[in-house]
Amino acid sequence: MMGKVKVYYFSPTGGTLQVAQRLGDRLGALLGAAVEYHSYTLPHEREALPQVEAGDVVVWATPVYAGRIPNKTLDYVRRAIHADGNPAIALVAFGNRAYDNALAELVGLMEEGGMKPVAAAAMVTRHAFSDTLGAGRPNEEDLATLDRFAAQVAEKLLTHNSELITVSVPGEAHPEKYYTPLNINNAPAGFLKAKPSCNSELCTRCGVCLEVCPMGSIGAKDGMPTFDGICIKCQACRRHCPTGAIAFTDPEYLSHVAMIERTFAVPKQAEFFVARNVQLRPIEIMEIPLLDDFLYEAIFIPEGVPAPPRSIIDNEELQVYVKDFGKRPDDRCLVAECDGKVVGAVWTRIMDDYGHIADDTPSLAMSLYREYRNRGIGTALLERMLELLRNDGYKQVSLSVQKENYAVRMYRKVGFVMEKETEEEYIMVCNLQKEE
Ligand SMILES: Cc1cc2nc3c(=O)[nH]c(=O)nc-3n(C[C@H](O)[C@H](O)[C@H](O)COP(=O)(O)O)c2cc1C
Ligand code: SF4
Ligand code: SF4
Repeated sequence: MMGKVKVYYFSPTGGTLQVAQRLGDRLGALLGAAVEYHSYTLPHEREALPQVEAGDVVVWATPVYAGRIPNKTLDYVRRAIHADGNPAIALVAFGNRAYDNALAELVGLMEEGGMKPVAAAAMVTRHAFSDTLGAGRPNEEDLATLDRFAAQVAEKLLTHNSELITVSVPGEAHPEKYYTPLNINNAPAGFLKAKPSCNSELCTRCGVCLEVCPMGSIGAKDGMPTFDGICIKCQACRRHCPTGAIAFTDPEYLSHVAMIERTFAVPKQAEFFVARNVQLRPIEIMEIPLLDDFLYEAIFIPEGVPAPPRSIIDNEELQVYVKDFGKRPDDRCLVAECDGKVVGAVWTRIMDDYGHIADDTPSLAMSLYREYRNRGIGTALLERMLELLRNDGYKQVSLSVQKENYAVRMYRKVGFVMEKETEEEYIMVCNLQKEE
């Protein structure tokens, strides 16, 4: 059942909200769903956590600061992004320099928080620091491309014959550093401690700036603002001041603004990413030879260790996984097909392999081609296989996995628990019996 489109955004100077609103409204109209907007820009708005219900589609929108999610919002975003498999769209707004790792960081947090980030967009908006950089963005063309993106996303969400998998975006999900701002001489610009100042002759003591600071850092003395606490340079106070009384005069900050205005004047394009379509289905007889490929791919190769020759799969202890597959009553195999190509497989049979624990318990093997890993395809395949085995009356299924293999986390997630361990491997078991 379709729930609501829930849009969460941080937007001190309004650019992020502008693109989030366009996307949210479009998605709502196309999906026939009500749309809710939730700001987490102000301190009191970050006291509550989002309530995402089954069926809701989430849009999470953030500006890019120093190539990432704004540092001072990160703790909240980490806590707030929580859902139970809800489809989600990551949206970042950047000021025509670059979005660097921001989109990948947001998609990563969505995945870790239990959402299914199926699509992502990076929109150019006015740079909060500058009146020329990203001026007039998003323009009509940007909004038209955003509308087309919304249509693609809506179609994906309304098509039920394909799995929702994680979208692939450029950048690092766990970046270590932020972009270092440079000054006009291309040396690091040190303006971390810079704060705005207020021109007493222009200030009408209206109090607007006090209301808009995302850090709650602006106080008042005789009606005039005082800049007391942490300043993230978001420019909300300066941009919202009706009389232009607020300015940043720090020379290093101004030098950085001059540098970006000079270097990044050429307009950048908005970028859009939608997860590919993946279908899960039983393997066809003609495709069984592919299991040799997947067996080879299933061999875990630790970082820095050269891959073994392909002939390794001819070894007897590996052949048990594939020899005459499909001919025994307990053989089961599901594959993931992406745009007409089989990209992964999970298969089970009762066999005397490393993971064997009992003669009525199938052992499981699975693998995906490298470029399709970490997208949720493996988890979807596994869940589908567990359902199939459960429906066929098996009580449990086991597997062996190298301790260092990233897949251990995925096996745990779908319900496998450790049964025993050797020096290098875990033998894991998943109980398939339905709880009464
Ligand atoms: C502190 C700060 C850092 C920023 N860093 C970047 C950046 O690394 N790359 C970029 O293209 N734009 C950068 N921008 C521009 C913002 O991403 C852009 O202005 C965005 O629209 C601001 O969102 P808002 O209008 O919702 O406040 C930065 C802006 C601020 C305030
Ligand atoms: S918004 Fe501008 S005019 Fe109003 S109190 Fe702040 S500095 Fe003064
Ligand atoms: S004081 Fe700093 S953090 Fe607060 S609104 Fe102004 S620029 Fe943003």
